[in-house]
Amino acid sequence: MSIQVGEKVPNVELKVMGEQGPESVQTDELLSGKKVVLFAVPGAFTPGCSVTHLPGFVVHADAIKAKGVDSIICTSVNDAFVMDAWGKNQNAEEIIMLADGIGNLAEAVGLEKDLTGVQFGVRSQRYAMILNDGVVEYLGVDEQGVEKSSAETILAQL
Ligand code: BEZ
Repeated sequence: MSIQVGEKVPNVELKVMGEQGPESVQTDELLSGKKVVLFAVPGAFTPGCSVTHLPGFVVHADAIKAKGVDSIICTSVNDAFVMDAWGKNQNAEEIIMLADGIGNLAEAVGLEKDLTGVQFGVRSQRYAMILNDGVVEYLGVDEQGVEKSSAETILAQL
């Protein structure tokens, strides 16, 4: 069972790229007291995530923030070096590229995706959340495409 609207994202340790290399960060630090859009993808640099999903948030980042969002976070079950390189490749300066290297967040919110069949291992489902002080206000999970988790959908929900 995945996390539901009205529930709080559990506190887990993740990584972001810092000046000296990957740094630990807690979800509580990222989410507490803030309005946050968090979206998750099955894999950095994969076509669906690189051609459609992340670019939409890059294009609409200012419009999303203009609606009172403090930060936009992109997460994937990839390491911090990969997430950092992907963010730079996509000019995603306004987006926090959050590495869920061992799937702590995907597991904590019940949104893992078993991609062992294509040798990706256990990853994250594609989803987007609007979070207020860590509490889910909107959750859209996509099996196919980005209809429920796109930047455009999030803008319409804000
Ligand atoms: C994608 O294009 O989004 C994708 C490709 C392979 C595995 C997972 C995701």
